[in-house]
Amino acid sequence: MFITFEGCEGVGKSRQIKELENYLKTNGIPYYLTREPGGTPVSEQIRKVILDGKNTSMTDECEALLYASARVQLLKEVVKPKLDAGELVLCDRYIDSSLAYQGYARGLGVDFVEKINDYAIKNFMPDFTVFLDLPPELAFKRKGGVDKNDRLELSGMDFHQKVYQGYKDLAKKYSSRFIVIDASGTREQTHQKIIDALKEKGVI
Ligand code: TYD
Repeated sequence: MFITFEGCEGVGKSRQIKELENYLKTNGIPYYLTREPGGTPVSEQIRKVILDGKNTSMTDECEALLYASARVQLLKEVVKPKLDAGELVLCDRYIDSSLAYQGYARGLGVDFVEKINDYAIKNFMPDFTVFLDLPPELAFKRKGGVDKNDRLELSGMDFHQKVYQGYKDLAKKYSSRFIVIDASGTREQTHQKIIDALKEKGVI
Protein backbone atom coordinates (compact mmCIF):
# COMPACT_ATOMS: atom_id res chain seq x y z
CA MET A 1 0.00 0.00 0.00
CA PHE A 2 0.96 3.60 -0.59
CA ILE A 3 0.28 5.85 2.43
CA THR A 4 0.91 9.59 2.52
CA PHE A 5 1.06 12.03 5.43
CA GLU A 6 -0.20 15.58 5.26
CA GLY A 7 -0.67 18.61 7.48
CA CYS A 8 0.24 22.24 8.07
CA GLU A 9 3.69 23.34 9.24
CA GLY A 10 4.48 22.42 12.83
CA VAL A 11 1.72 19.85 13.38
CA GLY A 12 4.34 17.31 14.43
CA LYS A 13 4.16 15.32 11.20
CA SER A 14 7.86 14.36 11.11
CA ARG A 15 7.73 13.39 14.78
CA GLN A 16 4.66 11.20 14.24
CA ILE A 17 6.22 9.52 11.22
CA LYS A 18 9.29 8.74 13.37
CA GLU A 19 7.03 7.24 16.07
CA LEU A 20 5.23 5.19 13.43
CA GLU A 21 8.59 3.94 12.16
CA ASN A 22 9.49 2.82 15.70
CA TYR A 23 6.19 0.96 15.90
CA LEU A 24 6.70 -0.74 12.52
CA LYS A 25 10.26 -1.76 13.43
CA THR A 26 9.24 -3.10 16.84
CA ASN A 27 6.47 -5.14 15.23
CA GLY A 28 8.59 -6.41 12.36
CA ILE A 29 6.49 -4.72 9.66
CA PRO A 30 8.67 -3.89 6.62
CA TYR A 31 8.22 -0.45 5.05
CA TYR A 32 9.96 2.15 2.93
CA LEU A 33 9.83 5.80 4.00
CA THR A 34 10.37 8.71 1.66
CA ARG A 35 9.46 12.39 1.50
CA GLU A 36 8.33 15.20 -0.77
CA PRO A 37 9.74 17.26 -2.25
CA GLY A 38 12.76 14.97 -2.39
CA GLY A 39 13.43 11.28 -1.96
CA THR A 40 15.70 10.89 -5.02
CA PRO A 41 18.96 12.71 -5.89
CA VAL A 42 17.21 14.76 -8.60
CA SER A 43 14.15 15.52 -6.44
CA GLU A 44 16.36 16.59 -3.52
CA GLN A 45 18.09 19.10 -5.82
CA ILE A 46 14.70 20.43 -6.91
CA ARG A 47 13.76 20.67 -3.21
CA LYS A 48 16.72 22.96 -2.53
CA VAL A 49 15.64 25.32 -5.32
CA ILE A 50 12.00 25.40 -4.17
CA LEU A 51 12.66 26.01 -0.49
CA ASP A 52 15.63 28.37 -0.80
CA GLY A 53 14.63 31.59 1.00
CA LYS A 54 16.70 33.59 -1.53
CA ASN A 55 14.45 32.57 -4.44
CA THR A 56 11.98 35.37 -3.82
CA SER A 57 11.31 35.88 -7.54
CA MET A 58 9.92 32.37 -8.08
CA THR A 59 6.47 32.51 -9.65
CA ASP A 60 3.62 30.44 -8.24
CA GLU A 61 3.35 28.52 -11.53
CA CYS A 62 7.07 27.71 -11.48
CA GLU A 63 6.76 26.51 -7.89
CA ALA A 64 3.80 24.24 -8.72
CA LEU A 65 5.60 22.75 -11.74
CA LEU A 66 8.77 22.14 -9.71
CA TYR A 67 6.81 20.23 -7.08
CA ALA A 68 5.18 18.16 -9.84
CA SER A 69 8.63 17.50 -11.41
CA ALA A 70 10.10 16.34 -8.11
CA ARG A 71 7.01 14.15 -7.65
CA VAL A 72 7.12 12.32 -10.98
CA GLN A 73 10.83 11.58 -10.48
CA LEU A 74 10.13 10.12 -7.02
CA LEU A 75 7.16 8.14 -8.30
CA LYS A 76 9.03 6.55 -11.19
CA GLU A 77 12.38 6.04 -9.48
CA VAL A 78 11.23 4.92 -6.04
CA VAL A 79 7.53 4.64 -5.20
CA LYS A 80 6.34 2.47 -8.10
CA PRO A 81 9.28 0.02 -8.00
CA LYS A 82 8.88 -0.38 -4.23
CA LEU A 83 5.12 -0.95 -4.53
CA ASP A 84 5.70 -3.42 -7.37
CA ALA A 85 8.09 -5.28 -5.05
CA GLY A 86 5.24 -5.54 -2.54
CA GLU A 87 6.56 -3.03 -0.01
CA LEU A 88 4.53 -0.71 2.18
CA VAL A 89 5.52 2.79 1.06
CA LEU A 90 5.11 5.79 3.37
CA CYS A 91 5.55 9.28 1.99
CA ASP A 92 5.85 12.51 3.98
CA ARG A 93 3.63 14.76 1.79
CA TYR A 94 2.38 14.11 -1.76
CA ILE A 95 -0.14 15.63 -4.20
CA ASP A 96 -2.50 16.94 -1.50
CA SER A 97 0.28 19.32 -0.42
CA SER A 98 0.28 20.76 -3.94
CA LEU A 99 -3.51 21.04 -3.93
CA ALA A 100 -3.57 22.73 -0.51
CA TYR A 101 -0.47 24.96 -0.84
CA GLN A 102 -0.38 25.83 -4.55
CA GLY A 103 -4.05 25.21 -5.45
CA TYR A 104 -5.79 26.84 -2.48
CA ALA A 105 -3.22 29.01 -0.70
CA ARG A 106 -1.28 30.40 -3.69
CA GLY A 107 -4.58 30.73 -5.50
CA LEU A 108 -3.62 28.78 -8.63
CA GLY A 109 -6.82 26.77 -8.27
CA VAL A 110 -7.32 23.08 -7.72
CA ASP A 111 -8.09 22.50 -11.44
CA PHE A 112 -4.75 23.89 -12.57
CA VAL A 113 -2.78 21.93 -9.99
CA GLU A 114 -4.72 18.74 -10.74
CA LYS A 115 -4.07 19.23 -14.44
CA ILE A 116 -0.29 19.50 -14.17
CA ASN A 117 -0.22 16.62 -11.71
CA ASP A 118 -2.41 14.50 -14.00
CA TYR A 119 0.28 14.99 -16.59
CA ALA A 120 3.06 14.17 -14.10
CA ILE A 121 1.67 11.24 -12.13
CA LYS A 122 -1.24 10.04 -14.32
CA ASN A 123 -3.63 10.03 -11.38
CA PHE A 124 -1.44 7.75 -9.31
CA MET A 125 -3.05 8.31 -5.90
CA PRO A 126 -2.26 7.00 -2.42
CA ASP A 127 -4.40 4.24 -0.91
CA PHE A 128 -4.78 6.37 2.22
CA THR A 129 -3.74 9.84 3.31
CA VAL A 130 -3.19 10.52 7.00
CA PHE A 131 -4.05 14.17 7.63
CA LEU A 132 -2.84 15.57 10.95
CA ASP A 133 -5.53 18.09 11.78
CA LEU A 134 -4.32 21.12 13.74
CA PRO A 135 -4.96 24.80 12.87
CA PRO A 136 -1.78 26.68 11.90
CA GLU A 137 -1.92 29.22 14.74
CA LEU A 138 -1.72 26.36 17.25
CA ALA A 139 0.86 24.48 15.19
CA PHE A 140 3.24 27.47 14.94
CA LYS A 141 2.87 28.14 18.65
CA ARG A 142 3.82 24.56 19.39
CA LYS A 143 6.70 24.73 16.92
CA GLY A 144 8.06 27.90 18.54
CA GLY A 145 7.74 30.21 15.49
CA VAL A 146 8.69 30.30 11.83
CA ASP A 147 11.88 28.89 10.26
CA LYS A 148 13.36 32.01 8.64
CA ASN A 149 15.34 30.00 6.08
CA ASP A 150 12.27 28.22 4.70
CA ARG A 151 10.56 30.13 1.87
CA LEU A 152 7.24 28.35 2.41
CA GLU A 153 7.16 28.87 6.16
CA LEU A 154 7.80 32.56 5.61
CA SER A 155 4.58 32.96 3.61
CA GLY A 156 2.54 34.41 6.49
CA MET A 157 -0.37 33.30 8.67
CA ASP A 158 -3.02 34.18 6.10
CA PHE A 159 -1.34 31.81 3.63
CA HIS A 160 -1.16 29.00 6.20
CA GLN A 161 -4.84 29.51 7.11
CA LYS A 162 -5.69 28.97 3.45
CA VAL A 163 -3.54 25.82 3.38
CA TYR A 164 -5.49 24.52 6.36
CA GLN A 165 -8.87 25.32 4.80
CA GLY A 166 -7.68 23.62 1.63
CA TYR A 167 -6.85 20.46 3.51
CA LYS A 168 -10.24 20.51 5.24
CA ASP A 169 -11.97 20.76 1.84
CA LEU A 170 -9.85 17.97 0.40
CA ALA A 171 -10.60 15.74 3.40
CA LYS A 172 -14.32 16.21 2.70
CA LYS A 173 -14.01 15.73 -1.05
CA TYR A 174 -11.86 12.60 -0.77
CA SER A 175 -13.34 11.26 2.44
CA SER A 176 -12.76 7.59 1.59
CA ARG A 177 -9.03 8.19 1.09
CA PHE A 178 -8.44 10.70 3.90
CA ILE A 179 -7.84 9.56 7.47
CA VAL A 180 -8.32 12.68 9.59
CA ILE A 181 -6.41 12.59 12.86
CA ASP A 182 -7.07 15.18 15.56
CA ALA A 183 -3.52 16.28 16.42
CA SER A 184 -4.42 18.62 19.29
CA GLY A 185 -3.65 16.11 22.04
CA THR A 186 -0.33 14.82 23.33
CA ARG A 187 2.24 13.20 21.06
CA GLU A 188 1.37 9.78 22.52
CA GLN A 189 -2.37 10.28 21.96
CA THR A 190 -1.85 11.28 18.34
CA HIS A 191 0.47 8.32 17.77
CA GLN A 192 -2.14 5.92 19.16
CA LYS A 193 -4.83 7.44 16.95
CA ILE A 194 -2.66 6.89 13.87
CA ILE A 195 -1.91 3.27 14.81
CA ASP A 196 -5.60 2.54 15.51
CA ALA A 197 -6.68 4.10 12.21
CA LEU A 198 -4.05 2.25 10.14
CA LYS A 199 -5.07 -1.02 11.79
CA GLU A 200 -8.73 -0.34 11.12
CA LYS A 201 -7.98 0.26 7.43
CA GLY A 202 -5.95 -2.96 7.24
CA VAL A 203 -2.70 -1.15 6.42
CA ILE A 204 -0.81 -2.68 9.36
P1 TYD B 1 9.46 20.58 4.71
O1 TYD B 1 10.60 21.23 5.41
O2 TYD B 1 9.61 19.14 4.33
O3 TYD B 1 8.13 20.83 5.52
P2 TYD B 1 7.36 19.90 6.53
O4 TYD B 1 8.35 19.43 7.55
O5 TYD B 1 6.29 20.82 7.07
O6 TYD B 1 6.80 18.77 5.71
O7 TYD B 1 9.18 21.46 3.43
C1 TYD B 1 8.24 21.15 2.50
C2 TYD B 1 7.48 22.41 2.19
O8 TYD B 1 6.96 22.34 0.89
C3 TYD B 1 6.30 22.61 3.12
O9 TYD B 1 6.20 23.98 3.43
C4 TYD B 1 5.11 22.24 2.27
C5 TYD B 1 5.56 22.59 0.91
N1 TYD B 1 4.97 21.82 -0.21
C6 TYD B 1 4.17 22.46 -1.13
O10 TYD B 1 3.92 23.67 -1.03
N2 TYD B 1 3.67 21.75 -2.19
C7 TYD B 1 3.94 20.43 -2.36
O11 TYD B 1 3.48 19.81 -3.34
C8 TYD B 1 4.79 19.77 -1.39
C9 TYD B 1 5.12 18.31 -1.55
C10 TYD B 1 5.28 20.50 -0.33
